[in-house]
Amino acid sequence: MSDAPQITESAVEAAVAAALAAIAAAGDSAALKAARAAHSAEGSPLADFNAGIRDLPGDQKAAAGKLVGGARARVNEAFAAQESVILAAEEAAQLATEAIDVTAVPTRWRPGARHPLSLLMEQMGDLFTSMGWEIGEGPELEHEWFNFDALNFDEDHPARAMQDTFFVEPVDRHLVLRTHTSPVQIRSLLSRPLPVYVAALGQVYRTDELDATHTPVFHQIEGIAVDRGITMANLRGTLEHMARSLFGEGAQIRLRPNFFPFTEPSAEMDVWQPNAKGGARWVEWGGCGMVNPNVLRSAGIDPDEYQGFAFGMGVERTLQFRNELNDMRDMVEGDVRFSRQFGMVV
Ligand code: PHE
Repeated sequence: MSDAPQITESAVEAAVAAALAAIAAAGDSAALKAARAAHSAEGSPLADFNAGIRDLPGDQKAAAGKLVGGARARVNEAFAAQESVILAAEEAAQLATEAIDVTAVPTRWRPGARHPLSLLMEQMGDLFTSMGWEIGEGPELEHEWFNFDALNFDEDHPARAMQDTFFVEPVDRHLVLRTHTSPVQIRSLLSRPLPVYVAALGQVYRTDELDATHTPVFHQIEGIAVDRGITMANLRGTLEHMARSLFGEGAQIRLRPNFFPFTEPSAEMDVWQPNAKGGARWVEWGGCGMVNPNVLRSAGIDPDEYQGFAFGMGVERTLQFRNELNDMRDMVEGDVRFSRQFGMVV
């Protein structure tokens, strides 16, 4: 071929030098691909030299073959080396942009906290189960008979008045939002063989306005023990144990005469808090007494054979004076900062 390039050492070296410069300048795989097309592929000077060997006179073929073959080998090696550098860099860049930190802590939703009332009720429940008592339950929408009649309330007792209690329509179904946990006394006596030692915790409802010391929905703990030979000393001992475990070893209780239809005698119980913030003081805690014989009769129990005591107190009140909380509304608003603060100390 007349226009075949002259295969001279300087021409081949020039082609190699051009190829190596293009390879070194290629910064990514696209540039390297272009360099390959220009300096190594079909139509490139080195490819033409290679093709031209077969047209040389026989005695020149070996030397030219060695020259061109060596040149192509050096260029191919340079391509391979640069290619691996570029691929590694591109892979590293891709990993960096697509990286997901699986160890990152998700902070968008902070978990809530147990409510201090729930924790306190759990602690109260544990206190009684640790003494061998059972935990009893009853519905919050309660039948009037359990809430009032079986507990010896008169037909015209003021607590039964519309303005004190949430009656639920239709009125002739006699359903009320329970005003105290005392109906669980009756349910416990009717559903268990004697003797009965039951504590009940739960929500109760009264038509109070929400203010610093009242809420229309609150919680009570109720206790009832019915056995042979139960006396007021058993009631006192139980309440003292409860006061000490909730308020500390120095806590004491005091009973003042009171009236409840379902206990006789009945007492208001105060607790002495030696470590109260404003100084040691008595605070009113709840009601208690010996189970009224009429209540035992409502549950089919012979009061000459069995006696019992019962008590009930507000859980919110307990938390309030135990932890020096001024405003009961903080307990119902559900602000997690309140729960975190008081959940810790309960
Ligand atoms: N149920 C009464 C109340 O809510 C408290 C109480 C319970 C009193 C048990 C005596 C015995 O005020």
